[in-house]
Amino acid sequence: MAKRQRNVWLCQSCAFEFPAFEQPCRSCGKWETLVETIKEPARSPGAGLAVGGARRQLPPRPLRTAAGERAPRVPLGIAELDRVLGGGVVPGSIVLLGGEPGIGKSTLLLQAAAGIAVGGGRILYASGEESAAQIADRAARLGLMDGPTADAMELFSEHDAELIGEAARASRPTLLIVDSIQTATVESLDGVAGSVGQVRESAAVLARVARETGAATILVGHVTKEGSIAGPKTLEHLVDAVIMLDGDRHGSLRTLRAAKNRFGSTDELGLLEMSERGLIAIEDPGRAFIDDREVRAPGAVVAPLLEGSRPMLVEVQALVAGTAFGAPRRTGRGLDTARLALLAAVLVRRAGIQLGDRDIYANLVGGIELDEPALDLPLALALASAHGDMPINRLTVAIGEVGLLGELRPVSGLARRLREAARHGFTRAIVPAPRRGSQAEPSPEGMKVIAVATLSEAIREALDGR
Ligand code: TYD
Ligand code: MG
Repeated sequence: MAKRQRNVWLCQSCAFEFPAFEQPCRSCGKWETLVETIKEPARSPGAGLAVGGARRQLPPRPLRTAAGERAPRVPLGIAELDRVLGGGVVPGSIVLLGGEPGIGKSTLLLQAAAGIAVGGGRILYASGEESAAQIADRAARLGLMDGPTADAMELFSEHDAELIGEAARASRPTLLIVDSIQTATVESLDGVAGSVGQVRESAAVLARVARETGAATILVGHVTKEGSIAGPKTLEHLVDAVIMLDGDRHGSLRTLRAAKNRFGSTDELGLLEMSERGLIAIEDPGRAFIDDREVRAPGAVVAPLLEGSRPMLVEVQALVAGTAFGAPRRTGRGLDTARLALLAAVLVRRAGIQLGDRDIYANLVGGIELDEPALDLPLALALASAHGDMPINRLTVAIGEVGLLGELRPVSGLARRLREAARHGFTRAIVPAPRRGSQAEPSPEGMKVIAVATLSEAIREALDGR
């Protein structure tokens, strides 16, 4: 009974406390918002977490003295993951790696562990999911048993967060991996592993362990089909960064993105390929997202995109067909379907392309998912090309945001995008005219840049101007 008294039920909506579970919340009236929580006055989750690891609080000081100061980084040796993190992991910080089961989270972290080992660091891999033998099997498959990882990494088959913390305090690893947060528990809480209360309390314990030991800590979080990591919002503010590993489990492409990053940008995209020997970084996507045919069929155009700091070429494909029955369909794969429907409406109203009674399908080549606004123009041109059954020259790229009035808006980093297109042999680019008063950016050698103000003009240039 003494154990129970330390726990309270906390409403996640209004923060009202209850001694026992009840529902709906007596204070705010919401259902399913009460979460069992440990009452511990000394703890303040999220407050000043992690920066600088085990460092104590510093007194106030002038802003100037902090200039150029940057959290120290430990690279994980996987270029794509390091870039998404902002240059590696920060000692004492806590990162949540989310993704669907089977997508490759454990594989990625085992490879990250190898990167740490190669750099001379030590790793504690706590797993409540798999046995030590299973992890060793995977390590062997990844070819890590002959390298430094075999000695630099300790395995701990444990789910109790306090015990994992004790092990970390004893061994002081550079990197602490907890696979997964859904299997982690704190003993003083009654709920089962994976419940919102257990997930949250375990994460809070591990965040404290990270801060105290200075270990860069990565928690694995399984994401359900609906895209939530158990107790999603409650975990997000407890950690310094949330990195999502996504991909089609039947394809080999995997993408990394930061949903939150206290130590870097959230714009970077990491590209990886799942192979027989683990995940391989795709550092130069080159033509990976382009269908390499001699002629480009009607309905296709290449877009020079800019994902974070990296330019990349992606082919947009569209198909337009008569609607067999009922309301016409707008189906997009890898891109925003709402945006697709909106562009179809703009094409009808502002460019006279009759798509009203047509089914529309659009996708990006290579199974990648992107939602850059600059995809508007290539998508609209692909639709116009598919509708008119007229191909767009295969050496033409197009980029730009489309407004509701059919006007084109400039995109950032145009020069870098066009340089990348020129590097891959494209010779013609349809782009938005620069804002009034601003200079057109110089076009790369060998590329004819056609700047247009409206969607109609862009369509004319794309379909007629060869
Ligand atoms: P895993 O890392 O176990 O996924 P998660 O931890 O996210 O649940 O990886 C799952 C899949 O990856 C599994 O189906 C096998 C595949 N795989 C490879 O294709 N190549 C490899 O080298 C490894 C280790 C796994
Ligand atoms: Mg796993």
